[in-house]
Amino acid sequence: MLNTKNERRIRERLRIIQKHANLRGLSLEALEQYNYICNLEQDKKLRHKDVVIVMIAFFVVLSLSGAWVNSILSVRCVIPANYLVWEATRPLADCAYCENVTEPIILYNVTRQEFAEYSYSSKPIIVKNAINHWRATKEFSFDLFKRLYLHTDGSYESFDEGCQFLNFKSDLFTLREVFEMSDERARNEPGQYPWYVGWGNCHPDIQATVRQYFEIPHFLPDDAEFSATENIFFGYEIGAVMHLDYISRLMWQGQVKGRKIWSVAPVPDCDHVCNKFQYYVEAGDIVLLDTRIWYHATTIPKGEFSMTVQSEYG
Ligand SMILES: [Fe+2]
Repeated sequence: MLNTKNERRIRERLRIIQKHANLRGLSLEALEQYNYICNLEQDKKLRHKDVVIVMIAFFVVLSLSGAWVNSILSVRCVIPANYLVWEATRPLADCAYCENVTEPIILYNVTRQEFAEYSYSSKPIIVKNAINHWRATKEFSFDLFKRLYLHTDGSYESFDEGCQFLNFKSDLFTLREVFEMSDERARNEPGQYPWYVGWGNCHPDIQATVRQYFEIPHFLPDDAEFSATENIFFGYEIGAVMHLDYISRLMWQGQVKGRKIWSVAPVPDCDHVCNKFQYYVEAGDIVLLDTRIWYHATTIPKGEFSMTVQSEYG
């Protein structure tokens, strides 16, 4: 309600402006908008109505888009709910990245110079026998990491401070639970449930120790930016369900122990021109993949223990 002197004055001035606008030929439609602004009582009613309409429209669009995205993605995998939002808001891909790609590029004994043409490629790449010299290939084990986390102050607290732990489909929800499981289960002995987990190697002391066992692949560009932390993945059989990574750089992963089967698929917008396919990496290999635009799932051959070091560059 306009009931103060000032408000009345403002209203009067607005009417004068309206009159001048009318004389200068402003459209009827624009004047209606103008009246809408001037009449605060009407404005309030309209705002409430508008809010209700916008809310209904929002929920309709949200549920429709959710169902749509879900119907596409459910063909491939079970994906956590927040991926639906990410996927729904992802810009459409230029399908040139996956056209005619049906297998990874496989490289041997590659130098940095030779790798330069592939450095920022979106195509899946395997560099064979690239990390056989890493101490990790001989010395990394479940027990080594268990000892490190048991004997380092604040090791598990790093997860309360934002360091990521991924349990995939395992029933182990913290790294502490992983290292407290029975020896029989840790070794995946017959009759035990398989497990597979991954985590960010964030604790500074543990990171310093772990980095003595591996190095950034020698063939990556020396002017690239590298991630401040790396991830460790290990376990049996389960692997990761089909997903995209929401990371800012390209991914490289050193296969320290065992083998891993990668299933990759284009984003749904490129299904009509691109293919999904599988390949595997062996201990000693490095796999490179733009996991932001290739859907990917991994599995470990039955009975084998897989351990990998993964990081980013870009
Ligand atoms: Fe991933």
